[in-house]
Amino acid sequence: MLKEILNYPPVDPNIISELAQSVEKFIVLATAVELNLFDSFKKPKSAEEVAKELDLDERVTKKVCNALVASGFLREVNGKYTLTKVSKVFLLSDSPFYQGNLIKLYRKTREERWNKLGEALKKGSLGYQRDRSVFDESFILAMAEGAVRWDLPRTVEIIRELPEFKKAKKLLDLGGGHGLYALAFKEINPELDAYVFDLPQVIEVAKKFVGNRVKLIAGDFTKDEIGSGYDIVFASDVFYRPREELIQILRKVHASLSDDGILITKHWHIDDLREDSTAVFFDLMFAILDEVDRVYSTPEFCDILESCKFEVVDIVDVGESYSPSKIVITKRK
Ligand SMILES: C[S@@+](CC[C@H](N)C(=O)[O-])C[C@H]1O[C@@H](n2cnc3c(N)ncnc32)[C@H](O)[C@@H]1O
Repeated sequence: MLKEILNYPPVDPNIISELAQSVEKFIVLATAVELNLFDSFKKPKSAEEVAKELDLDERVTKKVCNALVASGFLREVNGKYTLTKVSKVFLLSDSPFYQGNLIKLYRKTREERWNKLGEALKKGSLGYQRDRSVFDESFILAMAEGAVRWDLPRTVEIIRELPEFKKAKKLLDLGGGHGLYALAFKEINPELDAYVFDLPQVIEVAKKFVGNRVKLIAGDFTKDEIGSGYDIVFASDVFYRPREELIQILRKVHASLSDDGILITKHWHIDDLREDSTAVFFDLMFAILDEVDRVYSTPEFCDILESCKFEVVDIVDVGESYSPSKIVITKRK
């Protein structure tokens, strides 16, 4: 042992320390977001000024500001702190790319799910409360923020080229939440009648985003009718469901499409088990509480689609490591 400690370790220890520091950086960021700290720095200010403004402890505020400088979210010049480009774009609450609700959702998920991983590992999944109240306003705002940072513009880029989209007259965004996808589709194809179907409490949130440009249908797609005659049904991040339930919903979608209608899905799939795979964490996050798998590999997902009389015509990567979604385009068989 004594001999060994005189040598450097045979591999770089950074992998461990970077991870530990990223947890610390995340806690500082999430706390600053929860206190709306970044809005206070629209003009350069000292930590003392901000502490007074937000009724915070001066000494700890200064150290938090320093930690935010170290993480690249603030800059310090002569004792005054200002926003960096990244914080102006993502952390000011009036920015179109604000990520605050998504950051709060990451923290909530950490507390409600990830902190129970050890327990789940010993006892098995802890049991899922089928409570639709998870789809509350802050969750839907977080989904909207997740969409605008990459998935939405990339999805629009892919879908606008489809001949079926160019001639579509009626589109349903199933589980469309905030409604921003439907709104964007309407924007690039003004002839389109765009509908969002979602739970009643979510439709109230969608109204604030889409006004009357998109038609809103309140209901539960596991129980209620979803309408008919759609040229396109689009579903983004709604099919993380036990297989039997998914099949029931897909049959309903099939029946709601016009004869040459298409279904476009956008989801995370767990195909690529590599060092930087992101979807495996998503799959594990569900497994902490859920006894049944909800995230499928692309071939598994395509098999389910085919079994519900959808022919897979294309699979496109939406892809970024933080959002490894795939779009699957299918037509009715
Ligand atoms: C993960 S969010 C995805 C939102 C949006 N499609 C997106 O990609 O940003 C899932 C959406 O499905 C909706 N949803 C879940 N279960 C539903 C049900 N049984 N009936 C209708 N909508 C439902 C939720 O309210 C939520 O808006």
